[in-house]
Amino acid sequence: MNREMYRDLTPIVSHKLEGKFRESIESGVVCKLDLSSVAFGASLMVNSTKVEERRLRDMDGFFHDQEAYNGADKQELVYRTYYFNFDGMSCAITEMFPGSIGNEFYLTKGHFHEPPEMSEIYIFLRGHGVSVMQNRSKKKPVLIAPLMQGTVVFSPPFYGHRTVNIGRDVLSWISIFNTKARLNYEPIVKEGFRALIVEKDGRATFTMNTSHI
Ligand code: PA5
Ligand code: MN
Repeated sequence: MNREMYRDLTPIVSHKLEGKFRESIESGVVCKLDLSSVAFGASLMVNSTKVEERRLRDMDGFFHDQEAYNGADKQELVYRTYYFNFDGMSCAITEMFPGSIGNEFYLTKGHFHEPPEMSEIYIFLRGHGVSVMQNRSKKKPVLIAPLMQGTVVFSPPFYGHRTVNIGRDVLSWISIFNTKARLNYEPIVKEGFRALIVEKDGRATFTMNTSHI
């Protein structure tokens, strides 16, 4: 992996979860696939049942620096998600563009699932990013996983999840989840995420969100 790029993103991980992942330094990362082509992702997109676009105008309140957000061009496309529903199982492909608001990198809104115990698997196809996962219980540590092509991440039951593009190119991934899972944005709108992924001295790093309730 590109260790240099992720040097400042040493994750915080609970001992209990640590054992579940192959490399504890990469919390949430289940394994690495050797993806020589992203063609299968592209072919899936053709038959999507729904496409959702998020422009900056759709993301008021999700970035930490409200002043920088207010000054940004609200037409900018941040990400686009293609959804596919099968019997009992759904998947989505998201393409996220590079960019930042203030010092905070472009991010997905992030959500919890409802029912909250429904988990999710992510397979990263392209780009460089970070996954931030947090439990509703404030006592559990935030999980921060570095992402690149071939990274597979497991978002555990009861964890809200957000993906951040820290690279200069598109970050894209497939997510697989239970069709019955509804997406609950409410806690993120109210409380935000506990960790922010920001640029500092030309590098990606995380900082704790002091305004998190
Ligand atoms: O199910 C997921 O977690 C993803 O497919 C996301 O829905 C997708 O990346 C868009 O993110 P959000 O729903 O937080 O806007
Ligand atoms: Mn989800």
